[in-house]
Amino acid sequence: MLEQLEQFKTQADKAITSANTLQELRDVEVHFLGRRGKLALLLQQLRDLPQEERPAAGARANELKKDLIAALAHRAESLKGGTPASTSHVLDITWPGERMPYGHIHPLTRFLRLVTSIFSSMGFEIIEGPEVESTKYNFDLLNIPKDHPARDVWDTFFVRSPEGVKSAEGDLVLRTHTSPMQVRAMETRTPPVRFIVPGRVYRHEATDASHEAMFYQCEGLVIDRGIRVTDLLGTLKIFLQTLFEKKVKIRVRPEFYPFVEPGLDIDMSCLLCDGKGCPACKQSGWMEMMGSGMVHPKVLTNMGVDPKVYSGFAFGLGIDRLMMLYFGIDDVRLSYQSDMRFLEQF
Ligand code: PHE
Repeated sequence: MLEQLEQFKTQADKAITSANTLQELRDVEVHFLGRRGKLALLLQQLRDLPQEERPAAGARANELKKDLIAALAHRAESLKGGTPASTSHVLDITWPGERMPYGHIHPLTRFLRLVTSIFSSMGFEIIEGPEVESTKYNFDLLNIPKDHPARDVWDTFFVRSPEGVKSAEGDLVLRTHTSPMQVRAMETRTPPVRFIVPGRVYRHEATDASHEAMFYQCEGLVIDRGIRVTDLLGTLKIFLQTLFEKKVKIRVRPEFYPFVEPGLDIDMSCLLCDGKGCPACKQSGWMEMMGSGMVHPKVLTNMGVDPKVYSGFAFGLGIDRLMMLYFGIDDVRLSYQSDMRFLEQF
């Protein structure tokens, strides 16, 4: 039976290619596929086949029928166009090309580049550091001793070290801030220094419109002789005004960070709601932009810098929130959802 079906196919194919008019093609169709055509006859014989041979033969017959219908339609097309099948594919090289879809830089990356370029123009060096950090750099050297309640503020994810590897620097954590790079970078530098450290940081947080478990910070450190709080405020104000291209309002609040003394939190009026209150600023009208302060003498000592000779300031900018203000985005989670409806707006 299968053999007969293959023969049928060869004959049908031949007949189709040799049909030179639509009428001839129609005759071929009736001859092979018609109600009393060749295929119908073959299908009648199916019934007489032994039970176990029927499915295979039936499947092949159906396949052939489909192929045949397609071949007939194809031949009909080329006969209608008046061109023989072999030359029916015409290449028109004047036809316009297909436009390729192309992507662009993520708004967060774009914003980060803007931030670094502003600091760069103010003479800051740009450096990066490890995201998996030791507790020594993430906490100890920043004057946050083990078991001190201050560590609770930086609740984090611990990373299991490879089997058998005991680090002299303590456990490994996903860094909770970019501050560990203050000390790390100072191991290979001597004052005067002026640098920023943009990068990803991690916290054990429940997410909401203004919190994520992973986000971006940009650390800043300046150390020289005679650096004062006014240098800190002036630098940050110039940064914010350059960024937003207008005079901005800032508010300074005392805050405790173990690695600075005094410690200051810097808020900026919420540009989304003009200080009226909205979900992004938790109805307060202000957005917490950064922690900052004068580098603690103990931390200067840990850096190998003499606190009697040098002083310095440090700050930690929350990049995500600053970006939200900059672009007018009201939910920090949008940045990490890869939703094209969001991304295509930039
Ligand atoms: N590291 C602090 C934080 O993540 C911010 C900070 C940086 C505060 C530098 C003071 C000085 O909360």
